[in-house]
Amino acid sequence: MDLIEIKKLKQFDDSRGSLVFLEELNDINFQIKRVYYLFNLNCNEPRGFHAHYQTEQFAICIAGSCEILLDDGQKRQTVKLDKSNMGLYIHKMIWHEMYNFSGDCVLLVLASQKYNEQDYIRNYDDFVKEVNKLTEF
Ligand code: TYD
Repeated sequence: MDLIEIKKLKQFDDSRGSLVFLEELNDINFQIKRVYYLFNLNCNEPRGFHAHYQTEQFAICIAGSCEILLDDGQKRQTVKLDKSNMGLYIHKMIWHEMYNFSGDCVLLVLASQKYNEQDYIRNYDDFVKEVNKLTEF
């Protein structure tokens, strides 16, 4: 299974500029409970390094570019996000790392759950153990 699930959002361009929108459950497949964004990023300092038990996320690089690594405990894939109308699903129980941020990068993330530290798996070995528990049957 491909870990990289990109959704192209509709973009409206005219002489005034560009507009992109998305609606929960229409353009992305979950209800949005939280929005956060990363900016002023240091290209030498990767972020993320965790997975979520429950939270589904949709990440859009609305300015600049960055790369995201996704890992399901068996394989790793990377993708470059560099378009403001291109969103990446980061599903639950997917280890993710963000890196190679351009100086102007703004990464917008929509999440299906409110912030809850209990939903994080921040240790990679623990993540692999949790994945194995789910696939034992
Ligand atoms: P952190 O998990 O380190 O960010 P990243 O996933 O990019 O590596 O989060 C940085 C801080 O922000 C940390 O103290 C937790 C806090 N935080 C919130 O309070 N709410 C949120 O929605 C998020 C994503 C982080």
